[in-house]
Amino acid sequence: MKSKGKKSQKGAASAGAAPNSILRDASRHLMNTYKRSGIIFTHGRGCCVFDQDGKKYLDFLGGIAVNALGYSYPNLVRAIRREAGRAVHVSNLFHHPFQGPLAAKLAKWSRMDRAFFTNSGSEAVEGALKLARIAAHRKPGGEGKTRFLALEHSFHGRTFGALSITYEQKYREPFEPLVPGAEFVRFNDTADLEAKFTGDICAIVIEPIQGEGGIFSVSDTFWKRARELATRHGAALIADEIQCGLGRTGRTFAYQRLTGLPDMVVVAKPLAGGLPLGAFLAREEFAAAFSPGLHGSTFGGGPLVCATALAFLDTVERKHLLANVRARGAELRAGLKKLAAKYDFIREVRGEGLILGLDLDVEGAPYVTEALKQGLLINCTHEHILRLLPPFILTTQQVKEGLSMLDSVFAKTERPAKLQAVPSTTAAAQALAAAR
Ligand SMILES: Cc1ncc(COP(=O)(O)O)c(C=O)c1O
Repeated sequence: MKSKGKKSQKGAASAGAAPNSILRDASRHLMNTYKRSGIIFTHGRGCCVFDQDGKKYLDFLGGIAVNALGYSYPNLVRAIRREAGRAVHVSNLFHHPFQGPLAAKLAKWSRMDRAFFTNSGSEAVEGALKLARIAAHRKPGGEGKTRFLALEHSFHGRTFGALSITYEQKYREPFEPLVPGAEFVRFNDTADLEAKFTGDICAIVIEPIQGEGGIFSVSDTFWKRARELATRHGAALIADEIQCGLGRTGRTFAYQRLTGLPDMVVVAKPLAGGLPLGAFLAREEFAAAFSPGLHGSTFGGGPLVCATALAFLDTVERKHLLANVRARGAELRAGLKKLAAKYDFIREVRGEGLILGLDLDVEGAPYVTEALKQGLLINCTHEHILRLLPPFILTTQQVKEGLSMLDSVFAKTERPAKLQAVPSTTAAAQALAAAR
């Protein structure tokens, strides 16, 4: 296709409409659920994405942990092209060549036994909650096991069940009543866990590393106790690895750092390289509670998405990307530590692999805006924690580039006012209290 202007080349051509009309349509006809910047992204390659003017951005956000192989990764493009020309969808009333093998591969990665495929993370969480309930009900005396535990500062999604175990009141309150019986345990506080883990609990859901919560890792002591209590009460220990799993820590799953396996694992985000696919995986003892008709999905686990997910997992293995995540993660973390020593408003560097957070004692939004201006994508959670979730294919050169841009962003941004002491209820304070 011929370009009109030098800069807009691929951008405007592939966007299909003039930028003004795109933004006007969005403002008039999209529901008002996101505070979006005015940038229109049109395409990407590797770890970079381009806007409608052809401006290049180094993507350290990766579609919030989705684009683990960056943009237009050849293996994924090949799988999508091939299967788009064969069968995009096949009903779950039949088999197709990819769902079974993908379930087997995920079972191997996670050490679970069976999978159910969904279209999003929230939907996978919903399925896991349903499976936990029915598995508990099927146990002798399990009729009264209906309640769920989750952790303070957790994020598990926006559908009613997932929302019920998501901590932030601002997400839950406007939609109440939610699923009854959910309760939140103080982060890494084993005494609180023991007090709240009663016989009517059917599941505890834990992100081994809290993502939206601000990049906080669950302690081994806490996880081990949760494992013991779940076993004692015949409840399920569910690992929500939607953000931290499938390689992001440099291990296939973040819980591999912890003592004891979960009973179920929930995955989504990077699973099909950007196509919508999630799954909940379970050990046989729990999975056996399902029988035909108890759960289902029209779209979940179709051939196009499953073939792409197999290509994603295969690429991670063949290209040794777990090792790359560990190596680039260590470089990035070391560089962030240097920045923390240089800029006193950075309180802490947290995380591992390519899930990293910079905890500031000032508001983070101005830094996100300046980074965008300079061509770097990051985001901010809890108003003061900058979050980095770059693709697994990141190179040393890109780590250097990103760190140098962050340095310039920190130097150039007018320092925002110091936050009034970060509230004592934050996970930061809890983690510090637990460590004391
Ligand atoms: C840990 C975790 N669980 C669940 C979800 C919900 O996933 P989705 O947005 O695909 O419904 C997210 C999304 O950010 C997440 O980070």
